[in-house]
Amino acid sequence: MRILGIETSCDETGVAVYDSELGLLGHALHSQVAMHAEYGGVVPELASRDHVRKILPLLQELDFSADSIDGVAYTAGPGLIGALLVGASIGRALAWSWGVPAVGVHHMEGHLLAPMLEEERPEFPFVALLVSGGHTQLVRVDGIGRYSLLGESLDDAAGEAFDKTAKLLGLGYPGGPALAQLAEQGDPERFCFPRPMTNRPGLDFSFSGLKTFALNTLLEHKDEPGVRADIARAFQDAVIDTLIIKCRRALRETGLQHLVVAGGVSANRALRCRLGVVADEAGGRVWYPRPEFCTDNGAMIAYAGCQRLLAGEQQSLAIEVRARWPFDELRPSD
Ligand code: KG4
Ligand code: ZN
Repeated sequence: MRILGIETSCDETGVAVYDSELGLLGHALHSQVAMHAEYGGVVPELASRDHVRKILPLLQELDFSADSIDGVAYTAGPGLIGALLVGASIGRALAWSWGVPAVGVHHMEGHLLAPMLEEERPEFPFVALLVSGGHTQLVRVDGIGRYSLLGESLDDAAGEAFDKTAKLLGLGYPGGPALAQLAEQGDPERFCFPRPMTNRPGLDFSFSGLKTFALNTLLEHKDEPGVRADIARAFQDAVIDTLIIKCRRALRETGLQHLVVAGGVSANRALRCRLGVVADEAGGRVWYPRPEFCTDNGAMIAYAGCQRLLAGEQQSLAIEVRARWPFDELRPSD
């Protein structure tokens, strides 16, 4: 089965063709980062308009023949509603005109399954850490659609905390990669930030206090040399330590060995170094998507949609998208 995948949930237009026998046949991406940078964050209306502008030229770059496509998958949520509607409308319309089925995919299921695009891939069951700009979740994964939420962020997502802290340190948008880079020059001994919610049981997270901690530290030490890099380092160490402690706990509590890590923050180099040790201790390993598929892309949506369509999932022609869509509402196709 050959599927066209479309991702437009936020600030990236992504398209891809995935074939269940041959694997990924092609993908193309347009990032809106440069456009939103001027405003210091994503402007939803501009995002929607840019998806409209870019999506068909991007599809043309893919160079596929329409009659080879057996189905279309598009991100149906969670995300910016106007942006989602662009991909959903185009996806449904193409499927309608080609006479093939279309399926709306949960964006986080896309991230979760992105490591499956690689030749060497994890087997079920495993624990997944999803760390993006909008979500921080630990999930037990027993198969496609067989997910149990073990814990999640009660406030800011890890990526969101990176972005907000980067902003107050005067770094550009998106702040995560810039903060990570600045942290490399920071002194790990100078400041010590809290590791939120680690001294009580459970697998939930809370990252919003860390940005307040960063702000107060900055105000207190404002004109001292190297303070921004040292705060970046202390902040990053605190987020990573917290994620590590909870991943270790999740593997212990589930008795599972393998850890899948996906979402934009999984591109963080310091996090990757530390996670390897955690999986080693459990007798397993860590699985990542290739770096370009850690952040938003069409390939992960094509893959997830393909599994759903192969399992016989059917959806009505109504174009439905959801800005909020709790992950634990997902079920296997039947
Ligand atoms: O998965 P993604 O592309 O979009 C969402 O679904 O949210 O994730 C984007 C997030 C942003 O918050 C960005 O700052 C963060 O991932 N990010 C990073 C790094 N690269 C991207 N955070 C920390 N370190 C990085 N190297
Ligand atoms: Zn994402």
